[in-house]
Amino acid sequence: MRGLAVFPEAREVRLVEQPEPLPVTGTQVLLRILEVGICGTDREIGAFTYGTPPPGSDHLILGHEALAEVAETGPDVTLVRPGDLVVPTVRRPCPHARCRACRAERQDFCVTGDFRERGIKEAHGFLQEWTVEDEAYLVVVPRELSDVAVLIEPLTVAAKAAEQAQAVQERLPWERTRIRALVLGAGPVGILGAMSMVVKRYDTFVYSLESAASERAALIRALGASYICGQDVSLRDLEPFDVIYEAVGISSVAFAAFTALDSNGLFIFTGIPGHGAANPINTDALMRDIVLKNQLILGTVNASRSAYELAISELEQAMFLFPQSVRALITRRSTLEESPRLVTEHGGIKQVVKLANGRAP
Ligand code: BGC
Repeated sequence: MRGLAVFPEAREVRLVEQPEPLPVTGTQVLLRILEVGICGTDREIGAFTYGTPPPGSDHLILGHEALAEVAETGPDVTLVRPGDLVVPTVRRPCPHARCRACRAERQDFCVTGDFRERGIKEAHGFLQEWTVEDEAYLVVVPRELSDVAVLIEPLTVAAKAAEQAQAVQERLPWERTRIRALVLGAGPVGILGAMSMVVKRYDTFVYSLESAASERAALIRALGASYICGQDVSLRDLEPFDVIYEAVGISSVAFAAFTALDSNGLFIFTGIPGHGAANPINTDALMRDIVLKNQLILGTVNASRSAYELAISELEQAMFLFPQSVRALITRRSTLEESPRLVTEHGGIKQVVKLANGRAP
């Protein structure tokens, strides 16, 4: 069977023949991969600046945003059945007894850093025709979502952030009615973050550089958020926000946006910047504001099973409210043969590789 591989030493990205999976045993599940989304992390791995192949392998099979169909189940599987549509989670727990997070099945909070991530760190990913996964790492998806379900993994970024935001803002001992939220960046993570906030009835604004007349800005408005063009309006001139959700991955832009955070506000970081040059920021001003305005900074990496379940529910609500706009987030579906190009080229909102058709519903 074929898959898309990155060879970091040889600096190559190409299709490879992988061995066919062995028959499943115990709680293993054989998955037919239907679709895989491509994101900034894949492009960084494709540029050889991120990602690690499994121990002993010279290559890493890419792909962590997957939608698959259960093809066969091992004898001890109880949670899924052949024909089910599933999204596999990405992160696998570290082996250390002292990591309470991993032992509690919350590897998104792993403290040792020895977790593995499929398609990213020390484990092959899903951009291949078949794969085997333990049932513990599969989340069943309703068939009605099949044409947009590949968006579930990137939506878990917002879902996990929302879970965390809800918990930490319990610190404010009054009912929070009208929440003003600013999303920084109009890439897939930003747009999905905005969609998730609209579904939660936040008054949602997206701030990015694209022109207010662009198709992307129109799509953001169609999803129920307001769009602010960074070329027309400075961050300093914005009315303050209760929540700022960073989805640009550029630390200088992120820190510049602190001026738009209200008292008692929450600043959520989701981007993972590369190792760029040092950036001067006025740490006195930042610290003074954080203390005097009771502000909170939250970093969050996706995602636990609960975040996937929340993402599925948010996607169902978004499909009820704006089905055409949600579908329009997937700007291109390519074949496996075309996939090497996708990790080196930018374009559109969410690019998806289509590997197979699922069973007829
Ligand atoms: C993935 C996460 C992963 C992170 C860091 C993101 O693109 O969605 O699952 O933890 O990259 O590797």
